[in-house]
Amino acid sequence: MPAITDKDRRKATDIPDAVERLLSQMTLEEKVGQMTMVENNSITPDSVAEYGVGSVLSGGGGNPKPNSPQVWREMVCGFQQAALQTRLAIPLIYGVDAVHGHNNVRGAVIFPHNVGLGAARDPELIERVGRITARELLATSVHWTFAPSVSVPHDLRWGRSYEGYGENTQLVSDLGAALTRGLQEGDSGVLACAKHYVADGATAWRERRADESHHQQGSTAPPQESAEAAPVDLSLGQWQIDQGDACIDEATLRAIHLPPYQAAIAAGALSVMASYSTWNGIKMHAHRYLLTDVLKGELGFAGLVVTDWMAINQLASDYYTCVTESINAGIDMVMVPYDFRGFVSTLLGAAKSGDVPAERIDDAARRILRVKHAFGLFDRPISDQSLLESMGSVEHREVAREAVRKSLVLLKNERESLPLPKDLPGLIIAGDGADDIGLQCGGWSISWQGEAGATTDGGTLLDGIRAVACPSASIEYAPAGEFDSETRAEFGLVVLHEAPYAEGFGDRADLSLSADEVALLRRVRDRCEKLIVVLLAGRPRIISEQLPMIDALVMAWLPGTEASAVADVLFGDYPFDGKLPYSWPRSMHQIPLAKLRASAEDPQFPYGFGLRTRIDPSALGSL
Ligand code: BGC
Ligand code: BGC
Repeated sequence: MPAITDKDRRKATDIPDAVERLLSQMTLEEKVGQMTMVENNSITPDSVAEYGVGSVLSGGGGNPKPNSPQVWREMVCGFQQAALQTRLAIPLIYGVDAVHGHNNVRGAVIFPHNVGLGAARDPELIERVGRITARELLATSVHWTFAPSVSVPHDLRWGRSYEGYGENTQLVSDLGAALTRGLQEGDSGVLACAKHYVADGATAWRERRADESHHQQGSTAPPQESAEAAPVDLSLGQWQIDQGDACIDEATLRAIHLPPYQAAIAAGALSVMASYSTWNGIKMHAHRYLLTDVLKGELGFAGLVVTDWMAINQLASDYYTCVTESINAGIDMVMVPYDFRGFVSTLLGAAKSGDVPAERIDDAARRILRVKHAFGLFDRPISDQSLLESMGSVEHREVAREAVRKSLVLLKNERESLPLPKDLPGLIIAGDGADDIGLQCGGWSISWQGEAGATTDGGTLLDGIRAVACPSASIEYAPAGEFDSETRAEFGLVVLHEAPYAEGFGDRADLSLSADEVALLRRVRDRCEKLIVVLLAGRPRIISEQLPMIDALVMAWLPGTEASAVADVLFGDYPFDGKLPYSWPRSMHQIPLAKLRASAEDPQFPYGFGLRTRIDPSALGSL
């Protein structure tokens, strides 16, 4: 693991003279402009120039039309050129949620979601993932990603479980730091953002009324394509834990949830995003003690604190209080994201009246300028166009394939079901997830919530099986498991998937297999000697009742665009290597983690569990 260089350290702490000089020339309006982040569909380049806006972002699915790397680049550069025309020519910084590769962009490589990388437990690999992500971001001239998520999720019902690396603080700290180093490395790095500060993974399940949910709160949002998510269905548990309250004492917060931020800061992280959640009833976006005293004071964080999407609007019923409370608590940049004029005029008013002190505005602007300076935006506001050639390249995809292979966890393997012989006497395959790029990518993939279908380039598990098996092998695929009545095969493979989701839309009261999924398993079970099940999911599913009918069980998480690499491991070209980053509960009674720890019964599979397969020595050459 490369050590942090002096240069990186300077990046994190220096306030270059150039920044102080610039600050001394800035008007209040210009400083407030820097503190403003607007979403791309809500602002034009002309308004960027008029307001001197400091940052523009694409939320999940905030893509240009058509969605191609070239058009992305033109969009981002268009905003940047406008920023460079302002009086002081201060560049803006464009931000996106590149949480598993540059995942909004059609044609980019999409890596496994963090939960899979948590199973791979390979910091060096994650650094390479970070470097490639940075290169693909810079190809489109994007200099900031809202990653890594360094949540320590303690309740698998949470729809953001897959965005975390696992339930263990040390694991999250090590891997979050590794991604930070990879993303920010050297001159070709982009700004990382540790999120969501702090204890977003510790919130408690609650019964919340639908009208209090996130989306109703965001009702001032203009209709937007990416916002057209499914209606909230509370029978599933949607928005029952995301953005909730972490009811834990300070010792627990410091022992379990704070260390990943310390690790990210030590690795050079220069931005942190505040969490929508509350800590014992107090909103993080207004938490002066945690944002200012602990993060900026005690932890010595010298970068900028950004809000989450429209999060300050949740602080109070009047917007003036929302703005003053959050900025005074230590927020430096506000992801507005729609009504930037309203935000700018409110903050200007508060600054002029003294409700937000001048020193606070200066501190925020200084931090923002320092970060832009550290990431070379003053020297190279527009990145090198030739990087576009590497977007989604074979070389980049090869690293994603490695990540997919290392992330697989073998949970059960009886009757020598795996590895599969390449000269397969007969294999029947069922399940939509076996051949669907969108399903294997999950949420935060091309669109915010993700969706089924050929949403971007990549290879499916079925593609991989066809490529690895001998041409003579007999392979039959019926997505719904409806084979001819005579069909019998030695091997049956069922791929079960969770339908894609992001954030509170993925909160679930029940993680058991559905009746349809169980029926599919039975249909294939009846036609094969050995039943192999591959799970595509962002978290463990409750599978204890079905386990006896399954011969081999593989957890493949949300592998991204290169799911074809799952076949390399199923056929034994590579070993199963992954270890569970979450304890696997036997029943819903073992959720959340505190209940599992108090349970008299062992979990179905403990944290760190993962079987190994024998490897054919002749395959070692390819390792
Ligand atoms: C999410 C953040 C994300 C932001 C911008 C929010 O809803 O909580 O994780 O970075 O949107 O898309
Ligand atoms: C998400 C954004 C998304 C938006 C749509 C936010 O909560 O973070 O990424 O585009 O909702 O409303």
